[in-house]
Amino acid sequence: MSFDMVATFRPDLPPAAEPWQQPPPFSFVGGHNDADSVPFGGLAEAAVNVLRREGQALATYNLGGSPLGYLPLRQFICDKLGVRASMPVEVDEVLVTSGSLQALDLVNEALLSPGDTVIIEQATYGGMLSRLERLGVDWVGVDLDEHGIDVGHLATVLDELAQAGTTPKYLYTIPTVQNPTGSVLPVERRLALLDLTRRFGVPIFEDDCYADLVWDGERPPTIRSLDDGGGQVIYCGSFSKSIAPALRVGYLVADEPVIRQLLALKTDAGTGALEQLTLAEYAPAHFDHHVERLIAALRAKCTTMIAAVDEHFGDDVVVTPPKGGIYIWLTFPDGVDTGALSAGAAAAGIEFNAGAGWSADPAWGARRLRLCFGHADERSIRDGVARLAEVYRASTALDR
Ligand SMILES: Cc1ncc(COP(=O)(O)O)c(C=O)c1O
Repeated sequence: MSFDMVATFRPDLPPAAEPWQQPPPFSFVGGHNDADSVPFGGLAEAAVNVLRREGQALATYNLGGSPLGYLPLRQFICDKLGVRASMPVEVDEVLVTSGSLQALDLVNEALLSPGDTVIIEQATYGGMLSRLERLGVDWVGVDLDEHGIDVGHLATVLDELAQAGTTPKYLYTIPTVQNPTGSVLPVERRLALLDLTRRFGVPIFEDDCYADLVWDGERPPTIRSLDDGGGQVIYCGSFSKSIAPALRVGYLVADEPVIRQLLALKTDAGTGALEQLTLAEYAPAHFDHHVERLIAALRAKCTTMIAAVDEHFGDDVVVTPPKGGIYIWLTFPDGVDTGALSAGAAAAGIEFNAGAGWSADPAWGARRLRLCFGHADERSIRDGVARLAEVYRASTALDR
C-alpha cells in the first residue's frame, strides 16, 4: 500500500491545484500580455551581451552583490521612477522581488496577523483578496467612481472603523490604471488620501504595476512621491505588464529601514539573476520606446473589445473605457450573476473573470465581470465577445 503523503499535510491548506488545462479559444482571464509585443529579439541580444560580460557572477548567489537585487537593475528602476513617476528613489530603497506578487506577500507578512483589518478598493485585485482570505484578515471596501477611490466614502470608513476601535493595518490601492476598473486617481485625490489616512494613522500600500501602461502617457506622481519623505507609503511595481509576466521581476520601494525588514523576510536567496541581468541590459536603451509600442497595440485591442461589447451587449452592460492597461470591467443589470454564466461560457470556449472574485463584497461584484484584452488577438476578441453575448442572452431567456 502506498504511503498517503497528502494525509500528513497541515489541515488548513487551500485545495490542491487543479491539473493544468489548455486555455479555451477565447481566454479573457488573468493578466497575460500581447504576444506580438514581447521584445524577445532585444531581450535575447541583451542576454547574450550581459552573459558574455558578467556570466561568471552566476557562480554566486545574488551575483555576488547585494541581496536587494542586481544593482544596475535597481538603478534603472530608480531612473525610470524618477522620470516617469516623478518619484526620486535611492537604490537602497529598492528591493527586487520575484514578481510583484512576492512584494504583496512580503508586505503582508510584515504587517498582517489573523484577525487584522485592511481597507481595499471596492473592486480590486483578486490575487490580493485570496491572500487576505488565507491570512485570516478582514477587509472593508471603499467605493470607487470613474476616477478611483471616493475620498468621502474613505473618510466614512475610517471614521466607522475608529469608532469600533479598529486601526486598519493598511489601505491597499491601485491608483494608476486600477485593476479591474482602469481608472487613474487624480493628484488632488492622492493628496486627500494621504491626508486622511495619515490622520487615522493608516499606512498606504500603493500597487502601481500597470502604471507604465497609461494610454496618453500622462501619469500623476505616485502617492509615495506626494508623501514627500513622510514614510507612510510602501510602493510596488512590476515588469510583468510592461515587458513580460513570465520574467517574474517586480520591485518594492520604501524607506530603507522598511526595505531591510522586508528583505529579512525574503528567504528565496535572490530573485532570478538571468532575468535581472537581461532586463538591466535591455531596459535603459529600449524601455520607453518598447512601452510606447506596447501601449499602441493594447489600446487598439481595447478599442476593438469595447466596440464589440457595445455592438453585442448594447444597453445591457455599462463599460467605462479604461485609461490604460489590459482589462475592461463590465457592469450588468441588477439581478445578473456573472458567475452563473461561467459554465455556459466554458462550453462556448470562453473564459472570463467573474466580478465576485474581484470585489470586496462578492454580492456587489456578482453582476460584474472582467475581460482581459491583452493577450487575445483582434479576431478572437470580436468573436469571443459576440459568443459571450450569446451565452448571456441565452441565460436571460432561460430566466424569463
Ligand atoms: C494589481 C496587481 N498587483 C500585482 C500583480 C502581480 O503581478 P506580478 O507578480 O506578475 O508582478 C497583478 C497581476 O495581475 C496585479 O493585477
